[in-house]
Amino acid sequence: MTQKTPITIARGDGIGPAIMDATLKILEAAGAQLDIEEIEIGKAVYERGVPSGIEDSSWDSLRRTKIFLKAPITTPQGGGFKSLNVTVRKTLGLFANVRPCVAYHPFVETNHSSMDMVIIRENEEDLYGGIEYRQSQQVMASLKLISRPGTERIVRYAFEYARANGRKKVTCMTKDNIMKMADGLFHKVFDEIGEEYKDIEQDHMIIDIGTAKVAANPGMFDVIVLPNLYGDIVSDVAAEVTGSVGLGGSSNIGVDFGMFEAVHGSAPDIAGMGIANPSGLILGAVMMLVHIGQGDVAAKIHNAWKKTIEDGVHTGDIYRDGVSTTKAGTDDFTAALIDNLGATPKTLAKVEYAAGGKGIIIPPLKVIPDEKKERIGVDVGINFGGQPDALAALVQPCQTENLTLSIISNRGVKVWPDGAEETFCTDNWRLRFKGKDGNHVKTSEVVQLLSNLNNADMNFTNALMLYKFNGADGFTKAQGE
Ligand code: NAI
Ligand code: MG
Repeated sequence: MTQKTPITIARGDGIGPAIMDATLKILEAAGAQLDIEEIEIGKAVYERGVPSGIEDSSWDSLRRTKIFLKAPITTPQGGGFKSLNVTVRKTLGLFANVRPCVAYHPFVETNHSSMDMVIIRENEEDLYGGIEYRQSQQVMASLKLISRPGTERIVRYAFEYARANGRKKVTCMTKDNIMKMADGLFHKVFDEIGEEYKDIEQDHMIIDIGTAKVAANPGMFDVIVLPNLYGDIVSDVAAEVTGSVGLGGSSNIGVDFGMFEAVHGSAPDIAGMGIANPSGLILGAVMMLVHIGQGDVAAKIHNAWKKTIEDGVHTGDIYRDGVSTTKAGTDDFTAALIDNLGATPKTLAKVEYAAGGKGIIIPPLKVIPDEKKERIGVDVGINFGGQPDALAALVQPCQTENLTLSIISNRGVKVWPDGAEETFCTDNWRLRFKGKDGNHVKTSEVVQLLSNLNNADMNFTNALMLYKFNGADGFTKAQGE
């Protein structure tokens, strides 16, 4: 007998308590080995004046069990309240968002009959840091951050997930033909970590064509791993294509923590009517069981769930004349599923999960040797209303002996020297100064340059150092540079 795994549950709001009840009954009937602690989250907690919707004492339970099965909550309208999901995700460092997107043709209406993919989205980095600047009157900038450790974690999780869930292929999507450094790192780390998972097929697609394929030919995908923003978009495209968003479970995973839930909300319009579909939370619980190493129980529940859908036992939200056989309430559906424990689906694919073991464990980060970092110049941002030649003429007297103006660019295009007259220029310029003959540049030389610019009334908005790492440029060239 497997040792019991402690988990924390919360019943949430609206239909939350009903679908949690159903899910717990099924977990018990299937023989899941769980030690359940309960916490309160959501509406009642918000109304007690706790702006995060979760009491401090509840964190103790989460820190103890590290596994959270969560029913949906009703997010209060109006200001002052913080999103519970964002709070939990940030506090527990849940870096991966996992969303299976599956079509259950012909039992649930969909445009695509053979679709069974999992989107694994990085959750902490990319353009979501909220680091934005107004660089001039005309120009806004957002900073996209992709880190090596952040990428290594999400990519490893994708491969580990694939192994534990009997999946054959992981596809990475980036736009590294354009963002050679940030997306380039994500792709490179994917290839590098992929070397350790030779049992899994792997490929890379550029995000635009990849997204088009997800919409038009979703059957070709298995697991997809993506940076945050692309993952946000692709997971919505994929979910829409399945026709079964209402049935989806999802998880948020950190190095030590995991949170499992349904994709849908608290459905206050049908709360208390006994008709809620518990499938989303049940499938969230299945993901939880795989994560904690009870894959055999997960498979038993998942296959019984598929069999129940095949049998046509459908709650109102997916009921269709001619396809469904029984219009089931929450309790009927739950009872039918429990009767099916041990059975396997006939038309829908049978699922198999790696049984036993410790579940999905994310190996520690690779140790990367220190690289030699050498400063070879600086990019200075300047606001200026005029022509590139005039700007160069104003700035050149400010050069230091070693640090000289090499190019000026505007919106990433070189406009000096030898710019094209046709290039439209904004009021925000980037001036690239480099050490002569590729010389090393001292901090004091940069400070001297900025001081000279200041004395010449050239108001700079920012300065970014240019480095080489182990001899390779740590910056991109402007178009035309
Ligand atoms: P919703 O997903 O709760 O409901 C959308 C529609 O789908 C409704 O007509 C509802 O009756 C139906 N529906 C949803 N789940 C169903 C189920 N299991 N069985 C049968 N029908 C179902 O989204 P909505 O109405 O936008 O949001 C309601 C509340 O839920 C809001 O307060 C929202 O903030 C919250 N919410 C919470 C989430 C969470 O806790 N993870 C996620 C999404 C929304
Ligand atoms: Mg979104």
